[in-house]
Amino acid sequence: MMRLPTPEAIQDAVRLLQAGELVGLPTETVYGLAADATQDLAVAKIFEKKNRPSINPLIIHGASQECFRNHVMWNDKAQVLAEAFWPGPLTLVLPRKASSSLSLLASAGLETIAVRIPNHPVARALLEKLGKPLAAPSANRSGKMSPTSATHVEEDFPDLFILEGREAPIGLESTIVDLSNAVPTLLRPGGIPLEDIERLLGPLSAFSGTHLKAPGMMKSHYAPCLPLRLNAEFPREGEAFLAFGPCTVQGEAIANLSKTGDLREAAANFFKMLRLLDHPLYQGIAVAPLPKCGLGLALNDRLERAAAPPDL
Ligand code: TXA
Ligand code: MG
Repeated sequence: MMRLPTPEAIQDAVRLLQAGELVGLPTETVYGLAADATQDLAVAKIFEKKNRPSINPLIIHGASQECFRNHVMWNDKAQVLAEAFWPGPLTLVLPRKASSSLSLLASAGLETIAVRIPNHPVARALLEKLGKPLAAPSANRSGKMSPTSATHVEEDFPDLFILEGREAPIGLESTIVDLSNAVPTLLRPGGIPLEDIERLLGPLSAFSGTHLKAPGMMKSHYAPCLPLRLNAEFPREGEAFLAFGPCTVQGEAIANLSKTGDLREAAANFFKMLRLLDHPLYQGIAVAPLPKCGLGLALNDRLERAAAPPDL
């Protein structure tokens, strides 16, 4: 059920969350599937509903830095990044405090917790009214594409109570930086460009993927049903085409991420357009090359995962 985010609807959402139920909510990155992060049973419902492996931890969302004080061990680098990018599309992984009352299931039993303050009026209003942190992964079935509109969420979860906002303005999940070790590590490229973070912290080490530190970094992820063919200049017969920049190819089966080659616009359109082209009418989706800088790093990451064969 979709509800416009009136004060009454937000109050209803608070009641559902307090009662251990799930709520779909807009954030600036993608829509989230939220539960009270202090209730194990509510958090368990997230894993069940998404069919998500319970080894894959969730991001904890708070209204302010203060909300995380009792749960994670703060440090100087976290302070620098929080001042620069919060509220916003950045998630910090920090050591868990022994005294934390957050569900252990939410962080899959790890010694660390991933935290973020979203920059979206509806998400923030809900967090403030609830007065507790929310565990919230993207509101899609595990392995599928992230939702950037309330309608996407409803397609995957027709019974869910969803606060309806506009289209997610960033359109890509948050950038995840692990600050729990001496060397900061990029776990997932996302809505804050890596360059902007490195300008403040110096070079980050890149997570190599040899062990599943961020299990959402499984190779096959964000997958449409149709096969993808990356770095394609033109579509082949029977293929839909996801273009970027000025494009001479014409036709119905073409969506252009950004005619002017703007990566911000491309990020905002990305999941919506992939969904649009992911139609049984076509045999596959050809995707134009995207630059590997700025938000293009995260876009290429999502594309490579979407194109990878399912990992078991
Ligand atoms: O923009 C976003 O981050 C969205 C919105 C809803 O906030 N959320 C999101 O959540 O993308 P999800 O569950 O789809 O991705 C969370 C990622 C996963 O890759 C998970 O492995 C990683 O965060 N993660 C969570 N806790 C972690 C931890 N303690 N250590 C390492 N990685 C962690
Ligand atoms: Mg996700």
